Amino acid sequence: MTRKLFIKTYGCQMNVYDSERMAEALGAQGYVTTERAEEADMILLNTCHIREKAAEKVYSELGRLKPLKAANPELRIGIAGCVAQAEGEEIMRRAPVVDLVVGPQTYHRLPAMEAAMRAGARPVDTDFPEEDKFEHLPKSRASGPRARRGPTAFLTVQEGCDKFCAFCVVPYTRGAEVSRPATRLLAEARDLVKRGVREITLLGQNVNAYHGEGPDGAEWSLARLIRALAEIDGLERIRYTTSHPNDMGDDLIAAHGQVAKLMPYLHLPVQSGSDRVLKAMNRKHTAEQYLRQIEKLRAARPDLLLSGDFIVGFPGETEADFEATLDLVRAVGYGQAYSFKYSARPGTPAAERAPVPAAVADDRLQLLQALLAEQQRAAQEAMVGREVGVLFEKPGRMEGQMVGKSDHLHAVHVVAEGLQPGDLRRVRITASASHSLAGALI
Ligand code: SAH
Ligand code: SF4
Ligand code: F3S
Repeated sequence: MTRKLFIKTYGCQMNVYDSERMAEALGAQGYVTTERAEEADMILLNTCHIREKAAEKVYSELGRLKPLKAANPELRIGIAGCVAQAEGEEIMRRAPVVDLVVGPQTYHRLPAMEAAMRAGARPVDTDFPEEDKFEHLPKSRASGPRARRGPTAFLTVQEGCDKFCAFCVVPYTRGAEVSRPATRLLAEARDLVKRGVREITLLGQNVNAYHGEGPDGAEWSLARLIRALAEIDGLERIRYTTSHPNDMGDDLIAAHGQVAKLMPYLHLPVQSGSDRVLKAMNRKHTAEQYLRQIEKLRAARPDLLLSGDFIVGFPGETEADFEATLDLVRAVGYGQAYSFKYSARPGTPAAERAPVPAAVADDRLQLLQALLAEQQRAAQEAMVGREVGVLFEKPGRMEGQMVGKSDHLHAVHVVAEGLQPGDLRRVRITASASHSLAGALI
């Protein structure tokens, strides 16, 4: 019997990867995915717990889904991801509309849970199991070696985090740091390439802490894995995210200068430019150490575009601390960056500390975002006149237009005949708009 599955994904790219795996696992159970929640027999919300707003989205979405359930008695609703992990049984109490709760480390058990749910149970599984879920995931035919897919893909190589930054829920929702064996990752990458993928983004909450077992039995670093992936014919581009400054080893920095397929874009969050705040955050590095890493990276790869994450209004942050963050941003010059107002998360150490007044945090966020937006605009404009590689992904809104991503991860529009998704071409950038570049084929 064919049933329809609608998955809505919140949060980071690792959730995007997990959603694909869950769709595959349920595919083996006879489910096909749909883009329309109204026609679904099962709705899965793959959730994020990182900030209060992210977690609250789940409950407002459940409110919107209630009428669908009234209209279709066959409909079942499941909660997956980091809210599932953090709240578990509590979700069942708070939202009677929910039929199943599954954490990020147990979704290989979804098929059995689905069967239990259809039999009338309301299963909850938020274990941190011994077994590797990726090895126990059933595969549907839709994910077989001949099934084509788009030119870009994510590949989770490492999960979890042992860093325990004082503000962050990830070590609790994703568990301890675990690296997948390199042999399996190389096989998965080769399979993706056979199915049409030309760019792979390696994922991990702390991806540069990767230390998986290599085919030779030795422990491989992320740099070693990247060098091995670069040997795969047909794989043209490699990226990785998200990194921690303390795991940015010299071999990884060197790879940026030596591995042509490793793209010149790096997301390296620092959170704050104040040593006092960094210490209170338990980041275990100073602003100066971060700036030195950036220097080394730019020496290895001069055109490297940097991205980052910032938190403003962390408990105890003074005006001087915030100024230090602005100074660091000016010193680095980001191509793009994310910034957030601190959100107290239950169970984390920082949640116990006295907050910065919301209005103060709001003002700081605005100032920081204005500076980052200005840097982003400048970095984009600096691309005009330059020649870059573009991997085309899909048709644009205008007639004859194709959209792709540059080496530096800028969206680029090109009008040209005969371009196909998956084409990797040299492009001269001709103009910069607010969130994209325009160019012409060389
Ligand atoms: N593993 C990554 C980031 C994980 S979360 C890293 O270590 O950099 C993504 C970003 O969300 C973080 O970099 C941080 O800037 C932000 N974030 C995490 N917890 C937060 C909180 N409690 N309040 C506001 N922003 C937060
Ligand atoms: Fe969270 Fe820090 Fe771990 Fe990143 S390094 S996931 S911010 S605890
Ligand atoms: Fe959110 Fe979990 Fe990712 S909390 S950011 S979905 S690891």
